[in-house]
Amino acid sequence: MEDKLLLIPGPTNLSKRVREAMAGPQLPHVGARFYSMFKETIDLARYVFKNTKGTQFVFTGTGTTGMESSVVSLVAHGDRTLTLTTGYFGRRMLMLNQVHGAKADHLEFKDGMAADPDALRKQLRKAKYAVVFITHVDTSTSVANPVTDLVDECSNAGVLSVVDSVCAIGGVPMDFDRLGADIVFTASQKALAAAPGAVLVAASNRAIEHMEKRKAPIEAYYMNLLRWKPIMEDPKMYLATPATQVLMALREAMLEVKEEGIENRWARHRKLGEITRGMVDEWGQKFVAEEGHRADTVTSFWVENGKAGPIQKTMEEEHGVMVARGIYDDRDRMIRVGHFGILTPAILRRSLDSMGGVMEELGLVPGRVAVPKRRKKN
Ligand SMILES: Cc1ncc(COP(=O)(O)O)c(C=O)c1O
Repeated sequence: MEDKLLLIPGPTNLSKRVREAMAGPQLPHVGARFYSMFKETIDLARYVFKNTKGTQFVFTGTGTTGMESSVVSLVAHGDRTLTLTTGYFGRRMLMLNQVHGAKADHLEFKDGMAADPDALRKQLRKAKYAVVFITHVDTSTSVANPVTDLVDECSNAGVLSVVDSVCAIGGVPMDFDRLGADIVFTASQKALAAAPGAVLVAASNRAIEHMEKRKAPIEAYYMNLLRWKPIMEDPKMYLATPATQVLMALREAMLEVKEEGIENRWARHRKLGEITRGMVDEWGQKFVAEEGHRADTVTSFWVENGKAGPIQKTMEEEHGVMVARGIYDDRDRMIRVGHFGILTPAILRRSLDSMGGVMEELGLVPGRVAVPKRRKKN
C-alpha cells in the first residue's frame, strides 16, 4: 500500500518507532513485561496531562469511551447537566447525557463562535447543575474554546466540569493540575500520534469522591471509571483484556512527546496552526471558527459548495495527501486540515502549497481564473 500523508483530523501519521512498537510478538497482558510497560504508559500519560494530583486512567477504547465513561460515572438519572456545544462533538456529548437519563440542558454557540464564559456564568445562576461538559477543540468546526475561563466559571459556581480534550492534548496547552477541571480526556490517535484504540482520562479527587458517594450506583460496567481505578493503581489486576499493541504504540508515542518536551510540542503546533491559517488567508477562504478561537491542531474553512469533494480527491490522487471534508451537511462545502502529531512545518508547507495549486485549478482562489486541468501522466 502506498503511504499517504494524513492531514485529516485523526488518526494521524505514525513514526517508524511507533509502528515498530506494534510489530513484535504478541505481548500477553499478564507478566512482568506488560506490568512495567503499562505502569510506564500511565506515568507518561500523567506527563502529557500534567496530572500529578488526580487519578490517571489509560484503557482500551476511543474518544467516545472517554465521553461516555465521564457521563455515566458522574451523572445519575435525573441529574441536571449543561453541555456547551460548538460543533458536532459537543452535540454528541449532549446526546450521551440524554441517553443516560440526564435532564440535559445545553448552550449552543453557532457559526464558529466559541463558548462564552459570560453566558456560562449567567446560565449557572439560573439552575443548579451537577456537571458542565465542555469541548476543548471541536474537531468539526476547529473552534478552540477558552477552557481555562470556562472551567473557572464552573469552579466558582461549585459545579463539576468535564473537558473533552480529544483534539487538543499533545498539541494544545493542558495543565490538568492547574486547570481545576474534574475530568479531562483524550484519545491515542490525535496529537499524541499513536494508533487508535486507547483512551486517556484524568480525574480529580473531587470527581472520584463524587463517584464514590453518589446515591445511585454507576449504571455501567466497562465504562465505570471506579472499576478501572484499582487497575490503574495495580496493573496486575484484570478487568478486560487490553489492546496491548495499542498500548505499546501509545507508550512509544508518549516517549517521543517527552523527548521533544511537551512545551516544545505545543510551540510546534502553534507554528503548524499559524502556517495553515496563513495559507487559508492567502487563498481568501473563510474560516469556520471565529478569529481568536482557531485551533492549532485542526483548521476548517468554507469552500464553494460542491468543491470540497474535488479538492479532497485531487489532493489524495495527485499529491498523496489526505485532507478531510466537513461532517454531514457540511460535507460538500467544508475542508478540514488536521495538523498535529509528528508533522513538521516543512512537510505541512509543501502539502499546503500543493493544495493552493489544486484550489487554483478549481478556480477557487479569488482574482485568478480556473486554469485547464493538468493532464495526467501516463
Ligand atoms: C473532540 C472529539 N471528541 C470526541 C471524539 C470521538 O473520538 P473517537 O472517534 O475516537 O471515538 C472525537 C473524534 O474525532 C473528537 O474529535
